[in-house]
Parts: sequence; C-alpha cells; structure tokens
Amino acid sequence: MRIYQEKDYNAMSRRAASIIAAQVVSKPDCVLGLATGSSPVGTYQQLIKWYEQGDLSFREVRSVNLDEYYGLAPDHDQSYRYFMQANLFDHVDIRPENTNVPDGLAKDPAAEGARYEKLVEGLGYADLQLLGMGRNGHIGFNEPCGEFPVATHLVDLAESTIEANARFFASADDVPRQALSMGIGTIMRARKILVVVSGADKAEAVAKAVFGPVTPEVPASILQLHPDVTLVADEAAMSKAAEVGKA
Ligand code: F6R
Repeated sequence: MRIYQEKDYNAMSRRAASIIAAQVVSKPDCVLGLATGSSPVGTYQQLIKWYEQGDLSFREVRSVNLDEYYGLAPDHDQSYRYFMQANLFDHVDIRPENTNVPDGLAKDPAAEGARYEKLVEGLGYADLQLLGMGRNGHIGFNEPCGEFPVATHLVDLAESTIEANARFFASADDVPRQALSMGIGTIMRARKILVVVSGADKAEAVAKAVFGPVTPEVPASILQLHPDVTLVADEAAMSKAAEVGKA
C-alpha cells in the first residue's frame, strides 16, 4: 500500500485528484469507480477546476458508483445519484449515459444488485476505484460483519453509520436504514484503489485497516491484500496509524 500523508483536507483532495487525473489522461475511456460523502468532495472540486481550465476531459469516461440509499429517488437531495450530479457530473463533460449508480427505488433489491454487478462486470470492473472509509472501517456500505460480502447487495446500515450520516438529514430518523452497495469482491476487482480519509474521527479505523489483522470486522483491512492501493490521508486521520507504525 502506498501512503501519502497530507497536511489537511485540501492537500489530501489535491493529491487524490492528481491521481484520478493521471488515470483519465493515461486512459481517457477508463472506468472510474466513484464514492460519495464528505471525503471526496474536495477531490471532485479540484477535478472540476482542471476541467474548467481545459486540462482534463471526462468525455469518454465511464463511471460506476459504489452505493445508493435504498428507498431514495434519484432526485431526492440526499440520494447518492443527486450527490454525484451536484458535486461532479453536472460540472464536467461526462456523458450522462455513461454514469451508473444503483437504483435506490428498485422494487426487487436482490435483482437490482445482480443487475448492477453484471453491469460493472460488463465494463470490466473499475480501472480506478475511489473509496472513503467509515469510522467503523466500512468501505462502500460494507459494514463490519462476520464475512466479507462478495457482490452488489442490499445492506442493513450499522447504527454508527446512521448516526454519522444523520448530519446530512433533518434527523437520524430520516436516514434510510438500508443501502445497495458493491460488495468487497466488486471493489477488490478494481485494478487500482484510491482511498481518501480525513479527520481524527477516522484515525482508529485507518490504523486498524492498515496495520491490524485482515478481518471482516474491519472491512477496509481487506485492502492490505490488493496489489495496487494508494491511501491519501490527512495528518489527523493518520495520527493513530503513525503511532502504530513507529512501534
Ligand atoms: C460513500 C461510501 C461510504 C463513505 C464513508 C465515509 O459512497 O461508500 O463508504 O465513503 O461512509 O463517509 P464520509 O466521507 O462522509 O466520512
């Protein structure tokens, strides 16, 4: 695993954006696996800036998002489809038909999981998969559990995830209890993985993911087994990993 420790969120975002830009420049029709949440917002802002300056084009890029809340319509302002439009897609030249997010309104979530998995497989999986990390070590919405889920599936969100994401909703009661998420197997098939993490509240998860045992109780720990992972974290998120690393 390659680790970049950056001073703060902005530096983390610039570093991550440069890695994504390098991917897009070297393979303009690449498949980008994308994430939502607070962690990648600055990364997307930097990519938009380079697009506006004429330095980067997403014209041939295909994208697959990690996850979507189950029960939210695409135009719900907390859906992940809405997030992607607002934070990236509406501001760059990616073709709308080349962007993919699981359907949060699918009547049959198992069938939707299977459809999405096939779609990602049909695209040859991600050339580069961007990930954030939950405070409990989740990636995508693969929550700590007894075994690593393999393919795209319906997930019951952990209480800690519902609490963490309540900041985006009127109250915790409004946070959906379930989500459709790529599985760990889907994520691990990406050729490159880029993880962005910031803030002291992620420090323990980062330390466990990087230096702890590989266990489904810390889903991000599986990344230790992937041959091409880059972790870009700010100093606060690295504080505990730095201690363990020195010991
Ligand atoms: C988002 C996702 C989640 C988030 C994680 C961190 O698509 O799959 O795993 O990356 O919950 O969220 P933030 O960045 O809001 O702290």
